[in-house]
Amino acid sequence: METRLAQACHYIDELTGGINPPLQLSTTYARDTDYEHVSRYSYSRADNPSWDVLEKVCADIDGGVEALCFASGMAAVCAVFETVNAGEHVVAPRIMYHGSQDWLRRISERRSIGLSLFEASDLDALRQAVQPGKTSVVWIETPINPTWDIIDISAAAEIAHQAGATLVVDATVSSPVTTRALEYGADIVFHSATKYLNGHSDVLGGILVSAQDNERWQDIKWVRTLTGGVLGPFDAWLLLRGMRTLFLRFEKASQNALQIARHFENHARLERVLYPGLESHPGHDIARRQMTNGFGGMLSLLVKGGADEARAIAANTKLFLRATSLGGVESLIEHRAAVEGPHSAVPQNLLRLSIGIENCRELIDDLEQSLEKL
Ligand SMILES: Cc1ncc(COP(=O)(O)O)c(C=O)c1O
Repeated sequence: METRLAQACHYIDELTGGINPPLQLSTTYARDTDYEHVSRYSYSRADNPSWDVLEKVCADIDGGVEALCFASGMAAVCAVFETVNAGEHVVAPRIMYHGSQDWLRRISERRSIGLSLFEASDLDALRQAVQPGKTSVVWIETPINPTWDIIDISAAAEIAHQAGATLVVDATVSSPVTTRALEYGADIVFHSATKYLNGHSDVLGGILVSAQDNERWQDIKWVRTLTGGVLGPFDAWLLLRGMRTLFLRFEKASQNALQIARHFENHARLERVLYPGLESHPGHDIARRQMTNGFGGMLSLLVKGGADEARAIAANTKLFLRATSLGGVESLIEHRAAVEGPHSAVPQNLLRLSIGIENCRELIDDLEQSLEKL
């Protein structure tokens, strides 16, 4: 995978020999005198040469038949749920990326779509939540933001398929470097490309990759074209550039995060460290099976005390930047409940860390000095 990423699947521009794709900014494409298109492109909301290499690389590294890029992760999430009809049913975890769940709650109320939320660590709860013949989409996320609970994708796929539902996996946090969700039976894999895929906190994007070219996939394509949540050409170009180093970045962030998690696991000022790479994590065994090249750069600290103590630690860091988001080269710290708002189910003493590619000793020292000040 590292070779395919570094070379963007051995990309060479046919016209010029350039080893990076050209940036095509046209929104519209010429027709000949018979009014036939002169190429396969017509209008850039429907199709865009700037997406071609990016989508090819995304489909390739996740092992799908096709990929679609979107203007943001949420544009891709919405495109999936747009294919659920009134009267059908969706299942999702009780704790998950709050934006996706907010959207799900909103559309389920407005469009008479049933919604069941299940406890992520409990497969029996998922089994009970699906309604055979009625559940249209089972949406899971693994590791789950921000507790990093792990869901067994193969088991979830079996449950979803027995009920006749499509399994969609939000694999933003694992990335294809460590988990190729389609290989475990998922039908569609989703990434907020804003995170690890791009990796530099300077592009918003979303990616869907499908295992099959079926009716739902065709529907999703129509939704993208007609609702227009499309990725701009320069963002597509930047995203592909970022992806060339995805493998290296993800490996380094995973190594740093594991070292940090181990270092702070028994710290006197912390209740717990949540990281799937720790043996103490309840999802560790599944993570070892499912995350074959590192446990990623995301971890959370449960501080002894409540919101005040957690926020004081975030306030005193000097290297960790106080900002939301994840998967960038720089390390971030956030008081997650404050970011999610008053309805958040996230514990008040939880600090979410996105570990970057900096020097690990310096990151550890920064957290140590901040915990010391508490
Ligand atoms: C797990 C997860 N899924 C989806 C999203 C939404 O992606 P975007 O911000 O690119 O719209 C995010 C963003 O934080 C996320 O962390």
